[in-house]
Amino acid sequence: MLELKNITFNVREETDKEIIQDISLTIPEEKLIVITGPNGGGKSTLARLMMGIEKPSSGQILLDGEDITELSITERAKRGIGFAFQQPVRFKGIQVLDLIRLAAGKQLSMGEACDYLSAVGLCARDYIDREVNSSLSGGELKRIEIATVLARGTRLSVFDEPEAGIDLWSFQNLIEVFQNMRRGIKGGSILIISHQERILSIADEIVVLKEGRICDQGDRDEILPKLMGTAEAALECRKSGVAHETAMNNSLEEAQKC
Ligand SMILES: Nc1ncnc2c1ncn2[C@@H]1O[C@H](COP(=O)(O)OP(=O)(O)OP(=O)(O)O)[C@@H](O)[C@H]1O
Ligand SMILES: [Mg+2]
Repeated sequence: MLELKNITFNVREETDKEIIQDISLTIPEEKLIVITGPNGGGKSTLARLMMGIEKPSSGQILLDGEDITELSITERAKRGIGFAFQQPVRFKGIQVLDLIRLAAGKQLSMGEACDYLSAVGLCARDYIDREVNSSLSGGELKRIEIATVLARGTRLSVFDEPEAGIDLWSFQNLIEVFQNMRRGIKGGSILIISHQERILSIADEIVVLKEGRICDQGDRDEILPKLMGTAEAALECRKSGVAHETAMNNSLEEAQKC
């Protein structure tokens, strides 16, 4: 479906720092792909390149065989690429209902719009009339953004750290949202950037990105034990009183450093 061919990205031509270094990656149809790896590895940059927010310094991006490298964000969105940012954007003066209708591209009924909010664990009644401004908490905003991606119904839905700022209770709900998306995927693909073991565990394939390069890639059953193996070894060494979940997640991040 989406194919990245030898993608390289430099911030400034004069510096030789390549944030993305010669990445070739195929996002196949009807799969849930999770990209993981240490902070600063280039994950968000790669997502921005797919969206068209950034243009690669070299290489090609193909969608169903069509070269979309030079297409704008809008053109790519029209072709079915949707994106939920690591740090969502606030839209002053726009209500949640309008935002969901805009995303869907049609006049959804109130009930239909509310269903998308319920799917991300928000009590629709309390949020549908709220303005998408700074009065929303980080977690609420994140969930509203995920609801807009669901409403958009894009072929390729890209989520950058959807778990960021989401509490533990809602996190389980979020996993179910992705599992439901995966079940109804028909012809589309889901790409999630995440550090979370629970999200990695629902992936079909995992890609590990480090220092702008793919350092490991394959089926979940092949990659996850490798990541967790290192994580568990790291955990054994720490006999601190940190809660198990937190320790596993921290260790997983260490493991992702390959
Ligand atoms: N416009 C820019 N100018 C300078 N450096 C940049 C720019 N965009 C990204 N970078 C750098 O590129 C590297 C990769 O950033 P990116 O946000 O893609 O990492 P990431 O893998 O998403 O990290 P995280 O897990 O922390 O979200 C970082 O070192 C970042 O500082
Ligand atoms: Mg990032």
